[in-house]
Amino acid sequence: MSNIYSNTKNNIIKAAEIIKSGGLVAFPTETVYGLGANVYDAQAVSKIFAAKQRPKFDPLISHIADIDILHTYAATDERVFALAHRFWPGPLTFVLNRVEENPSIDLACSGLRTLTVRMPNHKIALDLIKASGVPIVAPSANKYQSISPTTARHVADGLGDSIDMILDGGACKVGVESTIIDLTGKNVVMLRAGGTAKEDIEEFLGEKVLINEGNPDLPTAPGQLLRHYAPKNTLRINVEKPYNDEYFIGFGEIDGDINLSKCGDLTEAAANLFAFLRIADEQASNGKIAIAPVPMSGLGLAINDRIKRASYKK
Ligand code: TXA
Ligand code: MG
Repeated sequence: MSNIYSNTKNNIIKAAEIIKSGGLVAFPTETVYGLGANVYDAQAVSKIFAAKQRPKFDPLISHIADIDILHTYAATDERVFALAHRFWPGPLTFVLNRVEENPSIDLACSGLRTLTVRMPNHKIALDLIKASGVPIVAPSANKYQSISPTTARHVADGLGDSIDMILDGGACKVGVESTIIDLTGKNVVMLRAGGTAKEDIEEFLGEKVLINEGNPDLPTAPGQLLRHYAPKNTLRINVEKPYNDEYFIGFGEIDGDINLSKCGDLTEAAANLFAFLRIADEQASNGKIAIAPVPMSGLGLAINDRIKRASYKK
């Protein structure tokens, strides 16, 4: 029996009951599918790590449905609210200092003094959070280091019966994870390129956003691990002419067996990326995939980040 459920009102209420009683629900967001639990329920949160087979506890992003609860949850200031009002709901995650009153979220934060939070731009996700009445922590709903899921079927293929319910919301529109920015210091620092373009944040703030790609041996974010989002086959990147035995993912005018975006649109390419890596994994008869160059602007930063990590050899 499948644990994929259509997104009816009743099923969303059922999903909220599961969250409230300590279970796990995979749900769609605009970026990728998340594997959600009640942030205040450490036992439920620990089940997330077991289902993902993450080797250790890593901090998780809290998803909220209302900007007004933010100050009860994390330390805020004018800059935080300005960014929230401009970019939420949307694919932008903030690293903020925790407020002291909530030790019950220690596991979700992996004991750090900071927490990460975002408001997803997806009606089903927002309805689920509201019906649950708590922030929902959710990493991407895939096994550790594998390709992130952008459909309910991807979640079921990867995590199967280890979760209570998968809410189906169709394909994710953005297709790469949220951009993560650290707002705990004077400068805004980007920890992960993602669905919100760095340029848009800079234009809004009127200042440069610094980049911290982290130390791969000691990542601040698992997304900073060298090997991540990995297909089963080998992946060669920045390829203009593939070898005959490679399954080729094209971009723009460099066409392939499949093309991320024939018209060179980075938004379309980001939305297709993870699903196409899965298709390539199935289709590559010789265990080899190659991918065309993608420009390093706008969402191209996030796309290049993901394919670089996906190409990293063990
Ligand atoms: O788009 C997204 O962000 C998706 C959807 C489901 O919302 N979620 C997602 O979660 O990508 P996950 O767990 O795959 O990635 C969250 C990243 C991790 O790399 C984690 O280490 C980092 O956020 N992170 C969480 N809390 C942090 C903190 N306090 N400081 C620095 N990094 C943190
Ligand atoms: Mg992930």
